[in-house]
Amino acid sequence: MKTKLFEPFQLGSVTLKNRIVMAPMDMFCVEKEDGFVTDFHVHHYAARAMGQVGMIIVEATAVTPIGRISLNDLGVWSDDYIEGLTRIAKAIKDNGSVAAIQLNHAGRKSTVKEDIIAPSAVPFDENSKVPAEMTVEQIKETIQAFQDAAVRVKKAGFDVIQLHGAHGYLISQFLSPLANKREDEYGGTLENRFRFLRESIEAVKVVWNGPLMVRVSATDYLPEGATIEDHIQYAKWMKELGVDLVDVSSGGVALAKIDVFPGYQVPLSEQIKHGANVPTGTVGFITNGTQAEEILQKDQADLICLGRELLRDPYWAYRAALELGEEIEAPYQYKRGWVYPKKR
Ligand SMILES: Cc1cc2nc3c(=O)[nH]c(=O)nc-3n(C[C@H](O)[C@H](O)[C@H](O)COP(=O)(O)O)c2cc1C
Repeated sequence: MKTKLFEPFQLGSVTLKNRIVMAPMDMFCVEKEDGFVTDFHVHHYAARAMGQVGMIIVEATAVTPIGRISLNDLGVWSDDYIEGLTRIAKAIKDNGSVAAIQLNHAGRKSTVKEDIIAPSAVPFDENSKVPAEMTVEQIKETIQAFQDAAVRVKKAGFDVIQLHGAHGYLISQFLSPLANKREDEYGGTLENRFRFLRESIEAVKVVWNGPLMVRVSATDYLPEGATIEDHIQYAKWMKELGVDLVDVSSGGVALAKIDVFPGYQVPLSEQIKHGANVPTGTVGFITNGTQAEEILQKDQADLICLGRELLRDPYWAYRAALELGEEIEAPYQYKRGWVYPKKR
């Protein structure tokens, strides 16, 4: 059987050898709270590349020190980070995968010791720090930080950039009426709430001509929050701006009850894919090859992003190939001992 899961995918100028993507997952493990890449990061991502994942999205990497989710996040706020990030990009590419990286600012969800900033002075919950409302100057500086980060990850050799617009971090805070109470041109209407992301995309594209993805939370799961309809419009605008793929997640802007079950976010991906006519990735409780293949065959997404299942099994792609009766390449160093799964 020729499956879609093992068909190549063209992401802008870059070809993925299959539709299997490692979702960004913060390992919260820098050693000295300094944002630097460790040996662990290099081995961790190389293992998934050897496991024949088509594209690896390196975890949320902070564009400014107060943009860190935690003190243990990777950083990219100065040129000092290029060397370590180069090690990760090289390890991924040397092992045949496409190297993507997620650029993030945590906004009001940052847990650093310093004062934090957000679109409005509204804390995430009663236990969270109250952020300072960003001045327009701070907005411009933060957009500049995303642009500077793009320059650095380009120097580090990454093939693809993902902007983190999901899970209630800064971009997502601007997009959601629950966190964005601004009365200036960055808040209020849908167009105004999109402005921070629009300007960030435009700024990145000045220095970056490779593929660009944005991860979004396509619903806040609350009546007053951002809805899937809002996100279909956001996705249309992103497409106009030259975003190559929208990676569709959900939730995280505010506490809400979410019913989680296998593939629970797939319908959100499907609605954005067809509503905005843009390629999408889907993520969330996808654990086996048959499930992944069904999503692709039903045209509900273009890419299958796996999080925890790839933590459990870096060689998930081999397992999925066996399950689907597909042929899969091995690292050339394995070739002498390699028999295609279906011939076993
Ligand atoms: C340990 C861990 C760290 C995560 N860190 C990030 C992150 O840095 N950026 C992000 O967008 N999502 C992050 N996520 C969410 C995952 O990318 C993914 O969307 C989520 O785990 C659901 O997919 P899964 O069911 O395949 O794990 C993280 C998830 C886990 C388990």
